[in-house]
Amino acid sequence: KPVVLSGIQPSGSMTIGNYIGAINQWLDMQEHSDCHFMLADLHTITVRQDPKEFKSQVLEGLAMYVACGLDPEKSTIFLQSQVPEHAQLSWLLNCYTQMGELNRMTQFKDKSNNASSSNSGLYTYPVLMAADILLYQADAVPVGDDQKQHLELARTIATRFNNIYGDVFKVPEPMIPKQGARIMSLQDPLKKMSKSDANPKAYIKLLDDPKQIAKKLKSAVTDSDEQARIYFDNAEKPGVSNLLTLLSVATKRSVADLVPEYEDKMYGHLKKDTADAVVAMIEPIQARYYELRADETELLRIMRIGADKASARAAPTLAKAYAAVGFIANN
Ligand code: TYM
Repeated sequence: KPVVLSGIQPSGSMTIGNYIGAINQWLDMQEHSDCHFMLADLHTITVRQDPKEFKSQVLEGLAMYVACGLDPEKSTIFLQSQVPEHAQLSWLLNCYTQMGELNRMTQFKDKSNNASSSNSGLYTYPVLMAADILLYQADAVPVGDDQKQHLELARTIATRFNNIYGDVFKVPEPMIPKQGARIMSLQDPLKKMSKSDANPKAYIKLLDDPKQIAKKLKSAVTDSDEQARIYFDNAEKPGVSNLLTLLSVATKRSVADLVPEYEDKMYGHLKKDTADAVVAMIEPIQARYYELRADETELLRIMRIGADKASARAAPTLAKAYAAVGFIANN
């Protein structure tokens, strides 16, 4: 079975972008692969968190994973901070990563604004991500488009290490979905939808209530084409294409199949249908979510099992990497 690893930062409620770019692929993969789905809580503290709020966000993230259909029986579902091997391997890999490589990371450049006061965790963030992946000897990493550059760095680091010490790490392949790899902001369809957007109308959260979802989609920015033609073209019609993508994923129908139905219709129709479809997709997830979120004993049980399973898988790789560099084992 191919080994899969991926994760999401529990830095606030997940968006429909996280669902479509990542979780939706994971659901297919968990049937045939040896899957590891992590909440990247170590990554989350690169931005200051309120401790109480943070705990609650992590529990929310875990409940949301399960509510979306990730199954703790089939997959290893865990918190990154509960598997110490991540931080341990991350340090080691820092010593095999060049500052020039980190300087080129576009996400770092965006988030730090080149300020010398930004914390160094933000800078070495991609190295921790490489550790997450390499620890499990992952074959495939299903992510949205924005993580591609980080994945390439993980491959570079693994290859560099292997060139020195022999085959310690599997060099992982990114898996970017053909559709929905980049869900765009509803307010600026040239920008990626992000949960950290200052304008909440720009994103749909998995926990938004149906009325909010309809409202946000109604006010989604489209374009000023006077004939309001509805077809898929990311360059000419980024807003409309984004709506078509959402509609297609939510209805499980292809864009090619949907477009002819909108030949004589207006943007308003497309927005309304998209809202209905998104709500229909999300409502059952929300129902399961609220049930699970209320059962903290069950959430703690799931995370304990996950952490044990994950650690058992991660420890041999860490030992191998430690031995390779010449650390003396304590046994
Ligand atoms: P994060 O939390 O920013 O996003 C989680 C996943 O959601 C995808 N995604 C999107 N996909 C499509 N359209 C969007 N608008 C959109 N927004 C987010 C992301 O591509 C990602 O797949 N560094 C990672 C978390 C991480 C990780 C890992 C991922 C830590 N270690 C190891 C894979 C493997 C992050 O911050 O993702």
